[in-house]
Amino acid sequence: MGSDKTMFGSHAATEGERLVASTWWQRAVVYQVYPRSFADGNGDGVGDLLGLIERLDHLAWLGVDAVWISPVFRSPMADFGYDVADYCDIDPLFGDLATIDRLIADAHARDIKVLLDWVPNHTSDQHPWFLESRRDRTNPKADWYVWRDRTANNWLTAFNSGQPAWTYDEQRGQYYLHCFLAQQPDLNWDHPQVQDAMLDTLRFWLDRGVDGFRMDVIHLIAKHLDEDDPADFASKKYSHVPANDVPEVHPRLRRIRSVLDSYPGDRVSVGEVYLLDEERMAAYYGSGDELHLSFNFPFVWSQFRADDLRHRISRTLDILRPRGAWPTWVLSNHDVPRHRTRYGGDEALARIAAAMLLTLPGTPFLYQGEELGLHEAEIPHDRIVDPGLRDGCRAPLPWAIGRHHGWPSDPWLPFPPDADAHSVEAQHLDEDSMLHWYRHLMQVRRRTPQLHTLDLEWVDLGADVLAYRRGGVLVVLNMSSVTVDLPGIVVPLASSIRGLEGLHITSVAPLAAVVAVPA
Ligand code: GLC
Repeated sequence: MGSDKTMFGSHAATEGERLVASTWWQRAVVYQVYPRSFADGNGDGVGDLLGLIERLDHLAWLGVDAVWISPVFRSPMADFGYDVADYCDIDPLFGDLATIDRLIADAHARDIKVLLDWVPNHTSDQHPWFLESRRDRTNPKADWYVWRDRTANNWLTAFNSGQPAWTYDEQRGQYYLHCFLAQQPDLNWDHPQVQDAMLDTLRFWLDRGVDGFRMDVIHLIAKHLDEDDPADFASKKYSHVPANDVPEVHPRLRRIRSVLDSYPGDRVSVGEVYLLDEERMAAYYGSGDELHLSFNFPFVWSQFRADDLRHRISRTLDILRPRGAWPTWVLSNHDVPRHRTRYGGDEALARIAAAMLLTLPGTPFLYQGEELGLHEAEIPHDRIVDPGLRDGCRAPLPWAIGRHHGWPSDPWLPFPPDADAHSVEAQHLDEDSMLHWYRHLMQVRRRTPQLHTLDLEWVDLGADVLAYRRGGVLVVLNMSSVTVDLPGIVVPLASSIRGLEGLHITSVAPLAAVVAVPA
């Protein structure tokens, strides 16, 4: 042990400036707000924009640089906002345009950027465009959606319902395509007017001052309808129609990119490219002219084991860095069970995961509540509301100790387990809490320029230890049950075992994380 040479290959900086963060979104920690469950400002049991505004000071204290807010547009809520009936208005459940203007201004006043969630693949079946389109076969929007006399392929809807992705519409006398619920008809992106109309919705929000967008299932905006899905499609956990990773998507992404780039201030796009292969995902960055960022789903689904993580991280860096593409790292979101629970529930592992997420080369995305160490909520059968059964990760944030946990009334879903102990109030008081651990890691990240590059060199400290150097900074994530000796004497900037910061150490305890510089 003790050698910097590695058996895992290295990621030394070789391409000069491209590997160092030069924009805010390359340096940022982005925090996903699932607004229904974040904070309730009007007391109706559902979180809203006012609630978020009231908690901005907390997010500033925590140290996040940007928030991505899951959809708040007008919606019948069949898919909890991912079925949009008006891209240019706020659903009354969440507030109104004046409230979001205030949110953007108040966030900016605290140096927090605001990303909205743009849902380009489909609208709600209540969107005026669809109401018009379904009327007959000759109306001006007749071809804005995907209509066929017969189901054109074997595609099933997402969420594993086993339902065909085609539904017959009596009024129009044809089938329409919906990769998700029947209430979410797919737009026909082959139609130039659809593209223009959707780009206008981006401009609407860019003009209002938003800093960018998370782009929902963006790989689906081009499709080969004549290709059937492979036979095993229905057995996939949470998937999207795989016949959609097609070349026509790229010119469309370039049009989207040029809209964002025509605005000042480095507006950003981060795509939900739900493809479980880094190589295919990488193509969505284009040559710096498509997505700015793309979510890394193979990493989300990695086993929480040093060898698997090392493999996924290496592959991501090997594929993205030569393209000059900036990686993202995410462990949880509103669609997957919380990673704390997926990794077995252990608090020490959750602390290691946080140290990893906040020290990897690229932009980390946190999902609300992971900084509280929340477990997946157990939802009684009669309270399940999501057609995709994702309620457990969407449970409300516990803000306070006691009844309703800081919510004005009983919220729409049950709280996660041990909500008092996991509450913001309880953890704020406890410097040793998960909340303080996340905050401290973000502070270290912010003031450590070595963490703002794409430089990473593996350090071999044993099979169950994920260890890497970022410039002169050593990160050791000991996932084993034995103490590991370090290559030399180091001084922790952050240590999951309290009291070690600033001291000289030569080893890392089992299930502990250390971010350190040489003594
Ligand atoms: C994305 C969203 C998910 C939604 C689906 C349909 O995967 O993250 O929540 O149900 O798209 O819009």
